[in-house]
Amino acid sequence: AALLAGRRSLEGVTVLVTAGPTREPLDPIRFLSNRSSGKMGYALAEAARDRGARVVLVSGPVHLPDPPGVEVVRVETAAEMLEAVLQRAATAQVVIKAAAVADFRPARPAAHKIKKDTAAPLVELAPTVDILRELGRRKRPGQVLVGFAAETHDLLDNAQRKIREKNLDFIVLNDVTQPGAGFEVDTNIVTLVYPDGRRESLPAMSKRAVAEAILDRLPLEREPETG
Ligand code: CTP
Ligand code: CA
Repeated sequence: AALLAGRRSLEGVTVLVTAGPTREPLDPIRFLSNRSSGKMGYALAEAARDRGARVVLVSGPVHLPDPPGVEVVRVETAAEMLEAVLQRAATAQVVIKAAAVADFRPARPAAHKIKKDTAAPLVELAPTVDILRELGRRKRPGQVLVGFAAETHDLLDNAQRKIREKNLDFIVLNDVTQPGAGFEVDTNIVTLVYPDGRRESLPAMSKRAVAEAILDRLPLEREPETG
C-alpha cells in the first residue's frame, strides 16, 4: 500500500465534515442544544484542506470563522443538517461526522413566544433522524465513514454498537468525563475503535493533532499510480 500520510495526501479526494451542535426550536427565540463548540470538526476540515482535499464543512451554529479554502454550509436544526449532508454525501469519498446532533427536538415548536403566564408548558419531544445511520445505509463501496461518540459510561460497548449500527470504518471515542477531553476545550483525549474490536488510545493532544491522527488512518482505496 502506498504511504499516504502527510502533505497533499488527500489530493483529489472530497471530504465532508460535520461540526458543531444543532439547535432545535421551542419557539421563535428559544431552542434545545448542547455544549459542542465545533472546534474538533473545524480542525478536521482545516487539516483535510491542508492535505489537498476538497472539503465541505456542514456546520451547526458555532462561534468560529469560516476556514479559508473550505466550502462551508451553515445549518441550524438536525433536519437541516440531514438534508445538507445527504445532498453532499453522494460526491464525498470520506464523511467524518464530528457534529453533536440533537437526538430529540420539540415535537411542536410554538409559533409565538411562549409567555411566562401560560401554565408551565410541558414540552413534548420527538426523535431526530440519525444522520450517520442514514449514511451508513447508503454507504458506497470505497466510501469511508467516520463517527464520533461522546460517552460517560460503558464506553467501549457503546462505541462498538455504534460502529455496527452505523456501518462505520472507525469511531472516535471521547470520554467526556475526563478533564482535557470533549466540549469547549482545545485538547481531546480519544480512543479510536475499529469494527474488528481493535482500539487505539491516543494521549491528550490538541484537536488539530487528533484531526491529523484521524486523517492518517482513513482506509482510502487508491488507484495504483502509473509511471
Ligand atoms: N449522529 C448523527 N445524527 C444524529 C445523532 C448522532 O449523525 N441524530 C452521529 C454523530 O454525529 C456522531 C455519532 O452519530 O458521529 C454518534 O453520536 P452519539 O451522540 O455519540 O451517539 P447516538 O447514536 O446519538 O447515541 P446516544 O446519544 O444515545 O449515545
Ligand atoms: Ca446522541
